[in-house]
Amino acid sequence: MVNRYYAKISGTGSYVPEKILNNFDLEKIVETNDEWIRTRTGMFERRVASKEQASSDLAYEAAIKALESANLRAKDIDLIVVGTISPDHAFPSTACIIQKKLGVKNFPAFDVSAGCPGWIYASNIAKQYIENGAAKHALVIGVEILTKITNYQDRNTCVLFGDAAGATIMSRAESKDISRVIDSDITADGSYNELLIQRAGGSRLPATKETVEQNLHTVEMEGNRIFKLAVKSMYNSCDLVLKRNNLDVKSIDWLLTHQANLRIIDALGRKMKIDPEKVIINIEKYANTSSATIPLALDEAIRSGKIRKGDLVLMSSFGAGLTSGSLMIRY
Ligand code: ACO
Repeated sequence: MVNRYYAKISGTGSYVPEKILNNFDLEKIVETNDEWIRTRTGMFERRVASKEQASSDLAYEAAIKALESANLRAKDIDLIVVGTISPDHAFPSTACIIQKKLGVKNFPAFDVSAGCPGWIYASNIAKQYIENGAAKHALVIGVEILTKITNYQDRNTCVLFGDAAGATIMSRAESKDISRVIDSDITADGSYNELLIQRAGGSRLPATKETVEQNLHTVEMEGNRIFKLAVKSMYNSCDLVLKRNNLDVKSIDWLLTHQANLRIIDALGRKMKIDPEKVIINIEKYANTSSATIPLALDEAIRSGKIRKGDLVLMSSFGAGLTSGSLMIRY
């Protein structure tokens, strides 16, 4: 298919809840320690949403900032795609709730359940809407409140997660624009679907008193097995996108990967042979916020002046499914 238009990222915004939970706080909740968490994961702090906050509340704040930075109003948006595994409700979609909060209607709004690459998947879809002319300005969000589906008796998982929202506006690029979404790859290997799972609450295991007592509504994970698959799947996706565009790793200005474990990011960087100075990391401040990690770090890096106009940015993620994917942009 011949694309009619190019897409670009025209605005970014993010939001994190005020409450901070650091490694020393976690020492009081579960048998763990700051040294283990830092050396095994690179994490120090994570944000925790209040009892009243739902994912759409975080997403709305991020969306407003993204609209401001794109110099657009909510009425200019004609598509909302939200990557999340911690939606406000199973239905309606969080995207529709955000649409209402923004006071707009009569265009497609839907969620994508793709684990941590939720924002990459959502961006991949929005890119196609923009390129074929079906949308002009898409609001693309990655948002999670993982702390509400975390088992704080399980030290293997509870130290890892935090809450955040990252929003981007993907717009039709003008012909004079150097900014472009260059390419995107998304894929999945469902044979690993048991490695990272929230067992109860769906049609397989509806909520009962027993499912709640057995903590089956929280994240269950085989961390060790995911670790190896994470490096491999992100490497393969980055390699594919680079080769498909006749680029080598030296042309990348910034590598921004899912922030799940500093050791995973380092292992990927080594495998790709990329200069460590070019790797964006903020895991120590927010831990793993699933689909929010990349748009949150992207927004921070743009606002701090690290990522500049014209920079080539390669983003890559992996997660529950197992899913993986990449998005390459010239910012
Ligand atoms: N504090 C102290 N000790 C701990 C903790 C903790 N918080 N957690 C585990 N340990 C212990 C284990 O019990 C084990 O002890 P043992 O040897 O006595 O049995 C020891 O530390 C080593 O455990 P491992 O699981 O082998 O630790 P590892 O180095 O693999 O790190 C981790 C675990 C951090 C989970 C790592 O495997 C990882 O990051 N995996 C990938 C996770 C991921 O990326 N998930 C996907 C994204 S999440 C999402 O999509 C929502």
